Amino acid sequence: MSVRINPSILSADFVNLERDLGVISSADFAHIDVMDNHFVPNLTFGPQMVGRLQDVSPIPLDVHLMIENPERWAPTYAELGAFSVTFHAESTTDPVALARRLRAIGARAGLAIKPGTDIEPYLDLLPEFDQILVMTVEPGFGGQSFIADVMPKLDALAAANTRLGLDVWLQVDGGITLDTIVIAAEHGANTFVAGSSVYNAPDRDQAILELRHAATS
Ligand code: DX5
Ligand code: ZN
Repeated sequence: MSVRINPSILSADFVNLERDLGVISSADFAHIDVMDNHFVPNLTFGPQMVGRLQDVSPIPLDVHLMIENPERWAPTYAELGAFSVTFHAESTTDPVALARRLRAIGARAGLAIKPGTDIEPYLDLLPEFDQILVMTVEPGFGGQSFIADVMPKLDALAAANTRLGLDVWLQVDGGITLDTIVIAAEHGANTFVAGSSVYNAPDRDQAILELRHAATS
């Protein structure tokens, strides 16, 4: 099984982001957390910053939008060249229409759900998406503990992938460590966002290698 390890720069040094993107070269994608202080109680950065990250990053960007009104902004990130743009189910009324706009621009479309959001209403929409992000913490902050209670959502998504003959990437984000990545992988996750467990490690590439090994063993 191929897995993807996506370090989150939320745990990087915000005045040295170019440097900190350069120390994760063994990663698959750089995970970029956009927060608007409305959808979540935290604020990070917007399109101007992400455009510059896109310019300097040695690996493609996986943009996670924790914002209200993603219809207004998600296409902008796709136009900037992000490899994938993921928006939250809780902040849109027509996820399929927005996913189609993102795909038309050339980005992969992702749908994220918070820990308290049911996955069942979205299972039949799987063909419209390239990845589903099952949040394993409440979105907003790095360094929180993994919520194992959401694992049945991954089981349901993996079963839907099989039933529909799809390979929609199943992503988890929040509290991913060498221990919890094993649990998520057992439930079908194959794309792993890790912020503090990568950026707080003394050797970031070594931490990525160890996560990749744990997810595939
Ligand atoms: C949380 C963000 C995550 C965060 C994960 O809202 O979406 O991407 O950076 O951080 P860790 O891995 O420290 O839980
Ligand atoms: Zn994230």
